[in-house]
Amino acid sequence: MPVAIELAGESLVLFRDRTGAIAALLDRCPHRGAALSLGTVTESGCLECPYHGWQFASDGACTRVPLNALNDNQRSQLSAVCFPTKIIAGLVWVFTGTEDVPELHLPLSLLEDSDRYVIVHEAWNAHWTRAVENSLDYPHVPFVHQNSFGRELNAVAQTDVIAQVNVKAIPNGMTVRNRLNTFPSGIEFDWHQPNCVVIKFDLVGMPVRSHLFAIPINARQTRFMQVILPYLGMDQTSFDIVQFTAPVAEDRIVIESQIGEVPNTTDECNVPTDEPSLRFRRWYYRVVKRQLPSEVTVIEDVARLSR
Ligand code: FES
Ligand SMILES: [Fe+2]
Repeated sequence: MPVAIELAGESLVLFRDRTGAIAALLDRCPHRGAALSLGTVTESGCLECPYHGWQFASDGACTRVPLNALNDNQRSQLSAVCFPTKIIAGLVWVFTGTEDVPELHLPLSLLEDSDRYVIVHEAWNAHWTRAVENSLDYPHVPFVHQNSFGRELNAVAQTDVIAQVNVKAIPNGMTVRNRLNTFPSGIEFDWHQPNCVVIKFDLVGMPVRSHLFAIPINARQTRFMQVILPYLGMDQTSFDIVQFTAPVAEDRIVIESQIGEVPNTTDECNVPTDEPSLRFRRWYYRVVKRQLPSEVTVIEDVARLSR
């Protein structure tokens, strides 16, 4: 069965060829533009258009045009648009760009632990950059999550405690260390360009890794996906997945209230704990938007100035 998806503003159709490999084509027939996802997969593993029955192989090559006597050379000019796919850790990765397929820089933990994770995802009415920024943001926890895992932090945030957010560059991303000046331990986030944030925390002394992906559906919608790696040896049947995934609904309400993509670095007010967000915005405007990031003014807090 072909499956229609929307990814980064493109309508795609996914199907399995005869070898079981997953193919991704533009969901638009090169003949008269019908949606190929309304068609069927033939016994030979080609995708047949629902309109005039043209057939396409997994690389987009046109393999049959009914009612016309065309030779191979003529058919070779009738290809559908094909996108490269790769299956890593049980997930299908599709490259929708037009340049050469770049190396994927996935967090190693995801590649190593592919057989024992839990995946939850849903579509948000938000730009993907807002979701990434939220995943990198520590100071929202006591407020957005005051009725779940941020309850204790909410009480602390009512005092004059100061959050210390330290950012360190790592290849293709950054590590963010968050802690309170009154408390020795904290929580760490890794950002992997462009859209993955790994939340690293301990549960009963064992490491749990929550991989958050903000996958652009289009300019207004994002598929927010959580891939959670319980620690090795954790009893999967007693793993309370809801405990980890439910608070994301709290984020969603706030993120959907933000309008459009993240603004450039000078377009909003910033404080020291916004450093991860500012780094992300600088990268987004320089690399993705190909614009120069603007110089930013950060309002320093008194404690930091007096250090
Ligand atoms: S529109 Fe697809 S075969 Fe004609
Ligand atoms: Fe959150």
